[in-house]
Amino acid sequence: MAFFHHILLLLLLCSCTVKSAELWAQYCNDNSKISSPQQSANIDNLLAELVSGTILNGFTTNSFGKGKDQVFGLAQCRGDVSSKDCSICIQDASKQIRKLCPDQSDARIWYDYCFIKYDTEQFFGQVDTSIGIFFYNVENVTDPDSFNKELGNLADEISSEAVVPGNKGLGRAKKKLSPFLTLYALAQCTRDLSPLSCAQCLATAIGNFPTFCDNKKGCRVLYSSCIVRYELYPFYFPLDPDETLGNMPMTYYHSIVQKP
Ligand SMILES: *[C@@H]1O[C@H](CO)[C@@H](O)[C@H](O)[C@H]1NC(C)=O
Repeated sequence: MAFFHHILLLLLLCSCTVKSAELWAQYCNDNSKISSPQQSANIDNLLAELVSGTILNGFTTNSFGKGKDQVFGLAQCRGDVSSKDCSICIQDASKQIRKLCPDQSDARIWYDYCFIKYDTEQFFGQVDTSIGIFFYNVENVTDPDSFNKELGNLADEISSEAVVPGNKGLGRAKKKLSPFLTLYALAQCTRDLSPLSCAQCLATAIGNFPTFCDNKKGCRVLYSSCIVRYELYPFYFPLDPDETLGNMPMTYYHSIVQKP
């Protein structure tokens, strides 16, 4: 009896403390087919290096192989997540990206807590807004005018914070809209970008708010160089004592937009 009791306790602990990472989206460029078994092996080796580098530093760029089989990669965790969540996320992402994009040498994967991209071209330091993935809550806010004004203020705040050297490309801000409603916003650039390039990426991302996020209760714009997100519930760290992480509402939709 005591034995079973023990097992049950362990299971409960496991399901409570090990929260698996949340996969949001992937992009596999079908114009980039893996050209040789060597290149495929290079991607696996690159991913292993990206994982270990990200577990150490939260961000890393690397390349693997030579000549036409060479691949370049970038991996990063969101600047506010714990090293444990980062480690779980990046390991999961490195496995999933190969499963989801098995034949492509240009691939990206976005998780809640981390991001990976690899390509045959060297892309470090360049702003990439070629692929945009938009998630939006179909529910509308009730008072668009005041909401959009506060959202605009938060967008400015998170952008200014993200471009400050030393902030790891991360900006967070929140604003109490009423005693019961708080708006949370987050910006994250990849850490290979200069402040100017980060600002440029975020301006493009936030520039989509009027089209894709118009009056929506929540929205996420995902690019390969930056992401911007806002919600009416807590989703970034650290949490205040009275806050608990929210979950993605069932009313979220997403679409992928590729620049012509
Ligand atoms: C939100 O507003 C848009 C534009 O007015 C409308 O088309 C849409 O149906 C609304 N969504 C909901 C869930 O009410």
